[in-house]
Amino acid sequence: MGALSILGWLLLLLLLLLMPVPWAAGARPCIPRDFGHGSIVCVCNATYCDTLDPLVLPPPGSYVKYESSKAGKRLERSEGKFQHSLHTPGLLLTLNITTLYQSMKGFGGSLSDSAAMNILRLSRPAQDNLLRSYFSACGIEYNLIRVPMACSDFSVRPYSYDDIPHDYELKHFRLMDEDVKMKIPVLHRALAMSKRPLLLFASPWTAPGWMRSNGDIRGKGTLKGQAGDKYHQTWANYFIKFLDEYAKHNVTFWAVTAQNEPLAGLLTPPEFPTIVFTAAQQRDFILRDLGPALARSPHRTRLLILDDQRIHLPHWAKVVLGNATAARYVAGLAVHWYMDPIVPPGCSLEATHKLFPDHFLLYTEACSGVFSFRFAVSLGCWERGDQYSHSILTVLNHFVAGWTDWNLVLDLEGGPNWVKNFVDSPVIVDGSKDVFYKQPMFYHLGHFSKFIPEGSRRVGLHSSRRCLLCQLEHVAVLRPDGALVLVVLNRFGWDVPFGIRDPTMGFIETVALAHSIQTYLWRQQ
Ligand SMILES: *[C@@H]1O[C@H](CO)[C@@H](O)[C@H](O)[C@H]1NC(C)=O
Ligand SMILES: *[C@@H]1O[C@H](CO)[C@@H](O)[C@H](O)[C@H]1NC(C)=O
Ligand SMILES: *[C@@H]1O[C@H](CO)[C@@H](O)[C@H](O)[C@H]1NC(C)=O
Ligand SMILES: *[C@@H]1O[C@H](CO)[C@@H](O)[C@H](O)[C@H]1NC(C)=O
Repeated sequence: MGALSILGWLLLLLLLLLMPVPWAAGARPCIPRDFGHGSIVCVCNATYCDTLDPLVLPPPGSYVKYESSKAGKRLERSEGKFQHSLHTPGLLLTLNITTLYQSMKGFGGSLSDSAAMNILRLSRPAQDNLLRSYFSACGIEYNLIRVPMACSDFSVRPYSYDDIPHDYELKHFRLMDEDVKMKIPVLHRALAMSKRPLLLFASPWTAPGWMRSNGDIRGKGTLKGQAGDKYHQTWANYFIKFLDEYAKHNVTFWAVTAQNEPLAGLLTPPEFPTIVFTAAQQRDFILRDLGPALARSPHRTRLLILDDQRIHLPHWAKVVLGNATAARYVAGLAVHWYMDPIVPPGCSLEATHKLFPDHFLLYTEACSGVFSFRFAVSLGCWERGDQYSHSILTVLNHFVAGWTDWNLVLDLEGGPNWVKNFVDSPVIVDGSKDVFYKQPMFYHLGHFSKFIPEGSRRVGLHSSRRCLLCQLEHVAVLRPDGALVLVVLNRFGWDVPFGIRDPTMGFIETVALAHSIQTYLWRQQ
């Protein structure tokens, strides 16, 4: 090879380095696919996936807007400038950042066994695209991950970590392949791609059969005996063993919930694995067993109670937190969304917050497609995304500190699930094609998760129009870096012009498009 050709190669190399490389040049657009359910999904595979730019605050006096719509926008970014006045008076949203409400924990989803299996069903590069979509700065930057302790119904088999009868010392406690080969490796990859600290929390569905009243790990049973006895002590130690074993794999939990759905839906299938606790039983288990066990352990893991529907509030809080000793072991209350339509947020969430303002409220489970046996998965259904955003906006406006989705990823059937309790998910994998579909729900969640980091505070937001059925739903938060975020949802089929007023910056004159969600972001100096 002559000197000239080496120079030629070097020039070529230089040219290549200077050329804009698609993945480095910024956001990649959605590749849409319409399955005929009203809107589109974005298709990703091993070599392509839509991405976002890492968030950059706009210069003072400007704002950025991200917009998604039923018509096909997916977190589309645009910029604008504040004005001195509004040309067309109408609906006006005014921020008041001197009114500070609850501090935010964040947003996320659950790494069930099924979610981990569905992720690992893809080729390695497709897995990376999927995990980046959820956790990286080029994705929607989830910071909460819920992990079931042993099986949930979203597993392929029922199991516990110690199925050797009467092993009160838990000598035979061991993690399963679902943990060691699936969930833990996926957690490490998510942790490595995340710029934000991830808050992991774990929830048990069921105990070993020998600890349960029905002698089986399946179905609805209670723990044998009562608080303070060997069954309850062993069950508390089982939590600590779980934290110890995950710690050996360098996975640290921010929190545990005392029990997934202790009053488990009457509507769940008969084999659905759960341990039933009343509020008084949970209080006594925490007081005598779980609270002291956690306090004695080397783990700084917080404890959340309830982890069930808000219909049990504020009663559950009064029973457990009404006991000052039990309350000291508890950091917050975990809530599931399934019965929300029949329970107003004011008399459940807000009432609880007013009674126990030092204990935070966190949504820990939600999903669509429940009870819709033929349509568990509805690819591209915009309304399911709307339902997510409507829930998030409602509960954030009633003192809730964050929102956690159920399975991060499911298959085309809405599983696997060993009691055939199939549901929908924001990401659906088609393993046979090595592709995955990002649903409207994914982008709805992204409108919150990417922009509202842990430690943000909800702020006052006043609407100039009082109405019974308000068309626009909204929330405003102040981020720890001083930037402001406003999320606006329009669930109706027509455009709504409106204005935003930040008393220190001026006005934004804008429109909430039919069936759309928008996030506005700006800084104040
Ligand atoms: C992945 O998706 C991209 C964009 O749609 C497409 O060009 C490419 O052919 C796909 N790759 C495979 C292996 O199907
Ligand atoms: C903003 O909130 C503060 C504190 O709640 C209140 O005193 C003040 O009147 C509010 N300002 C406006 C303009 O509504
Ligand atoms: C855990 O982290 C330590 C220190 O970084 C490292 O030496 C060890 O190999 C890690 N263990 C596992 C199981 O990842
Ligand atoms: C908490 O409950 C326990 C058990 O029911 C009881 O013995 C104790 O007095 C209660 N403590 C307070 C402060 O209410």
